[in-house]
Amino acid sequence: MKHFFFTILLMATAVLPTGAANHEVPLIQNVCAYESVSLNGDWHYIVDVQEEGYYDYRMNPTRWGFFQNAKPQRPEDLIEYDFDKSPTMQIPSDWNTQDERLFFYEGTVWFKKSFQAVPMEDHRMLLYFGAVNYDCRVWVNGKEAGHHVGGFTPFNYDISDLIKEGENVVIVKVDNKRHAEDVPTQIFDWWNYGGITRDVRLVKVTPTYLEDYNLQLAKFDAKAKKRQISFSARLNKKESGHKVTVFIPELKLEQQLTTDAEGTVSGTLFVAPKKLQLWSPENPKLYRVDISLDTSIISDSIGFRTIETRDKQILLNGQPIFLKGISIHNEKPNGGGRANSAEDAHTLLGWAKELGCNFVRLAHYPHHEEMVREAEKMGILVWSEIPVYWTIAWKNLKTYENAQNQLRDMIARDHNRANVIIWSIANETPHSQERDTFLGNLAQYARSLDNTRLISMAMEVTGASNYVNRLNDNMNKYVDVVSFNQYIGWYRDVNDAPKMKWEIPYNKPVIVSEFGGGAKYGYHGAKNQRWTEEFQENLYIENTAMLDKIEGLSGTTPWILKDFRSPRRVLPDVQDYYNRKGLVSDKGEKKKAFYILKQWYEKK
Ligand code: GCU
Repeated sequence: MKHFFFTILLMATAVLPTGAANHEVPLIQNVCAYESVSLNGDWHYIVDVQEEGYYDYRMNPTRWGFFQNAKPQRPEDLIEYDFDKSPTMQIPSDWNTQDERLFFYEGTVWFKKSFQAVPMEDHRMLLYFGAVNYDCRVWVNGKEAGHHVGGFTPFNYDISDLIKEGENVVIVKVDNKRHAEDVPTQIFDWWNYGGITRDVRLVKVTPTYLEDYNLQLAKFDAKAKKRQISFSARLNKKESGHKVTVFIPELKLEQQLTTDAEGTVSGTLFVAPKKLQLWSPENPKLYRVDISLDTSIISDSIGFRTIETRDKQILLNGQPIFLKGISIHNEKPNGGGRANSAEDAHTLLGWAKELGCNFVRLAHYPHHEEMVREAEKMGILVWSEIPVYWTIAWKNLKTYENAQNQLRDMIARDHNRANVIIWSIANETPHSQERDTFLGNLAQYARSLDNTRLISMAMEVTGASNYVNRLNDNMNKYVDVVSFNQYIGWYRDVNDAPKMKWEIPYNKPVIVSEFGGGAKYGYHGAKNQRWTEEFQENLYIENTAMLDKIEGLSGTTPWILKDFRSPRRVLPDVQDYYNRKGLVSDKGEKKKAFYILKQWYEKK
């Protein structure tokens, strides 16, 4: 009998793009657990402003493109590119901080990497990308593996039939040009870092493997003597009769199940409440879990907790919690460039811990996997978001499909992370029927994939007059937590925060998902002097006092932990292409406001 009291719908509905050769397969769960060869390191690259390597002079895709990695065979042969004579850059990274000529560059860059491989009878080989920004085409030995759009979620190709004995070549065309129909759309307040920004791996799997699995603690049931942990898994093939065993050594819990005709299993493990340590910020307990399929076995580290709302409260493990948060961009702790390692994550999250945070909003797109896993180890709860940001092309079906795919893959990668409690589907989107339909569908889709977590989005204050701020958003009925951004003291009503009143007519928990103001580290002066640390400090003093008066406030994620690169911030000697709303400078220096928030959280 299937257990349906709560589900994470294993991504059976993964619809993959058709057309050109496509070796894309649904995202493999917990890729780090598999034997793999890293393709990180030096990759040759060619900057191709006019996409000479892909289109002919009539702008038709050419079969003689750079993906052929052609070499002159005879003296008279004309080949006008040569990867092996082209410069190299470290992957994973963004090209903007790797080659100063590309600091502002938005366009196409080709990447080439050689690797040794041997076709295997009894195994398949997946080519896995942690993320590539933005529009990416991949070839292996001149044959197209696939085309992926979206800069912040992983994807993988089964390249078993494309590899050959000996030297193999993977070529990736990356284009980060912005378009109105994209997700995010044409304008956004962060740097449009281009490139292969996260890990690349060759992953060895058995012909039939565990494509996805889910382990989740059921909500507390006072009547139940035992706590229930639901387990479900799905193979990459609809094959019955495979033995799947889930084993949690520390809890001495084990269950063997047999796949059905859909290639899926699901079951329930029962554990005595006092035996189970629940995951929480104070005790980020993770259990080693071994999952075997026939003779192969993988392991994961999983925490068990419940998250829900009751009226205006957020309950973690049945207890009300105040989310002491901070917003963060996925940028390296010092200077710019995409963050992409556990070290980057640990430093950024270390600053959040110093602030007294138990929560982070990873804005405005899924951050690298190590960020989420490091936060899980450090006891930090996570808000994860897809870049449906500002004015998206709401009526464009392709745009919707793109947003839905990014949502699917965000959930697919992190749905076993205990610290991830909120899926956010949007940020500061203008009200319209088309927008409501688009976001309403996204919210329902997210819930259909995972009804164990909270859904939210960053709304905006809809009306403010006579110091009364109102929130009136049709999307309130789709979300579990009502969140909004407000910039009292910066974009409006400087020094009026103490007078402000709030009308939030929804019986749901409230998160103020952004507030803040800019300051240039080391610039000091009067508290009404813009850009001084004293101005920002005072803004935080006034805003935190104002937030204390908001009924049902269950958390906040001020904007933002660290100054971050943005092409929209051009004020010389102050911004210099940095958004300066960080509490920490781009060099890791703490501003005065950092300590105001820290003190406020100490009282929370
Ligand atoms: C907006 C937006 C952020 C932006 C911030 C700002 O609210 O969500 O992405 O950086 O305001 O203006 O600094």
